[in-house]
Amino acid sequence: MEEYTAHTSVLLREAVDILAIKPSGIYVDATFGGGGHSAAILEKLGPDGRLIAFDRDPEAIAHGQDLLNNSAGRLTLVNDNFSSLKEHLAAMNILKVDGILADLGVSTHQLLAEERGFSAKNNGFLDMRMGPDAAMSAADLLRTIDEYQLATLFMAVDEKPREARLLAREMKKLAGERPELTTGELAELIQKISMPHPGKKDPTKRIFLALRMAVNGELEAIDTLLAKAPSCLKIGGRLAVISFHSLEDRHVKQGLRRLTVNCTCPPKQPVCTCGGKPMARLLTKKGILPGEEELLNNHRARSATLRAVEMLREVP
Ligand SMILES: C[S@@+](CC[C@H](N)C(=O)[O-])C[C@H]1O[C@@H](n2cnc3c(N)ncnc32)[C@H](O)[C@@H]1O
Repeated sequence: MEEYTAHTSVLLREAVDILAIKPSGIYVDATFGGGGHSAAILEKLGPDGRLIAFDRDPEAIAHGQDLLNNSAGRLTLVNDNFSSLKEHLAAMNILKVDGILADLGVSTHQLLAEERGFSAKNNGFLDMRMGPDAAMSAADLLRTIDEYQLATLFMAVDEKPREARLLAREMKKLAGERPELTTGELAELIQKISMPHPGKKDPTKRIFLALRMAVNGELEAIDTLLAKAPSCLKIGGRLAVISFHSLEDRHVKQGLRRLTVNCTCPPKQPVCTCGGKPMARLLTKKGILPGEEELLNNHRARSATLRAVEMLREVP
């Protein structure tokens, strides 16, 4: 495997603090990446503590072997999507854990490796798969997706409808003509069609983000995690999520808020069967943002928001 590019963990202290780690507790790092958050959690765990860390990227898991070897048996690495978290915990005979952390998005390693095809700057095949569980590369997605659906993905990241439709049509044409379509070629096309809008992210970044999210089913994975996590947590257990853009943050914010409302029965159900008590309490009313020092030292922290809840009751 080629060298793993170091990843500077975002909101490291804040995320570990909000988990309020118990030395003998069981914790989940849903997004191992470069292992920074995992290492900080392990530091707070005593000899009986346990950490299960997931990543869908085999390169992240391979890079984690050193931490694994130095963890005195407290760390377990799982190469899978965190949406299968509950099933993996059950297979390990773990019914409930004390805390779950998810630091969403891509790692610096994924972003900078040109053969992974995530970046317009590092020209490479337009792949964008975070791991082998993603069904197809971005180049294949462009060939198979319907033009209307593709334009809809672009509008979800604030592209104007006319430009979104034109981009979708021209991208599908280019992908059909170029079997080895590269990130550079795609960026060139975006720059020809999409105008930068004042106050908005660079169009290339927005369109690349839309494709990346679709290739990896990112929003679906977040929704699944937020739906499954409560039943994996003990009373007093904590769920903390770091998001990096507004679409992601909206899903996290709404998903966590849903856990804090009184009744979670379907709206049309005549009688409440959930007990009418909130599952959790919100620990972060506004979301925690990086401080000035972190922003100065880590450009990627700019758009990060940490949100967390604490479980008030057990969820079956
Ligand atoms: C921002 S990085 C995590 C960095 C890590 N917290 C650290 O301190 O080094 C995100 C990682 O999560 C992984 N990831 C993203 N979505 C995932 C999912 N649905 N299931 C499992 N891993 C995922 C990516 O492959 C990437 O390695």
